[in-house]
Amino acid sequence: MIALRAVHLIGLIAWLGGAGADIVLELALTRERAPEGRAALIRLHRAVDLALEGPGILVTLSSGLLLLSSAGLLGGGEWPDWLAWKVGCGGVAAAANLACVGFVLARARAAESSSPGSAATHKWTRAVWSTGIGVPFALAALWLALAR
Ligand code: HEM
Repeated sequence: MIALRAVHLIGLIAWLGGAGADIVLELALTRERAPEGRAALIRLHRAVDLALEGPGILVTLSSGLLLLSSAGLLGGGEWPDWLAWKVGCGGVAAAANLACVGFVLARARAAESSSPGSAATHKWTRAVWSTGIGVPFALAALWLALAR
């Protein structure tokens, strides 16, 4: 159980750390006008998602499920309210972020096949920003887990 909780926290550090880096990259992209600069930021966001944030989400989800299973909560055990809300919020945050990873990959493809300033890359950038809806759910999950 201790090892699984450690893996859960390591997954979270990679996920939330990657998400923090991505927010900085997206803010920089809103100001960047030079095509080479935009192309570099779009590629860097993709690299962070593939190397850090994406694996972090998958490790957090899988370790979370294993923690639930080892606590006998996947087989119909009684869930404490805080945990039910935390897993719910964490699940919404994970779904939003995985959608974001998909939009980031599609944007990088669009930037490479057309240009980093094309209508398609701007469309995907709006889609990336729309997944910001997941941030309050991630913060709620963190608060629920630490405030109990
Ligand atoms: C943004 C998403 C999430 C955050 C910030 C988060 C945060 C945390 C934190 C800080 C802990 C406490 C670790 C400890 O005390 O050692 C924890 C434990 C746990 N998490 Fe998550 N988690 C998230 C998502 C999930 C998901 C998606 C699941 C289930 C699929 C999950 C299941 C669990 C379980 C079962 C525990 C152990 C609870 C206990 O101590 O009995 N978590 N989580």
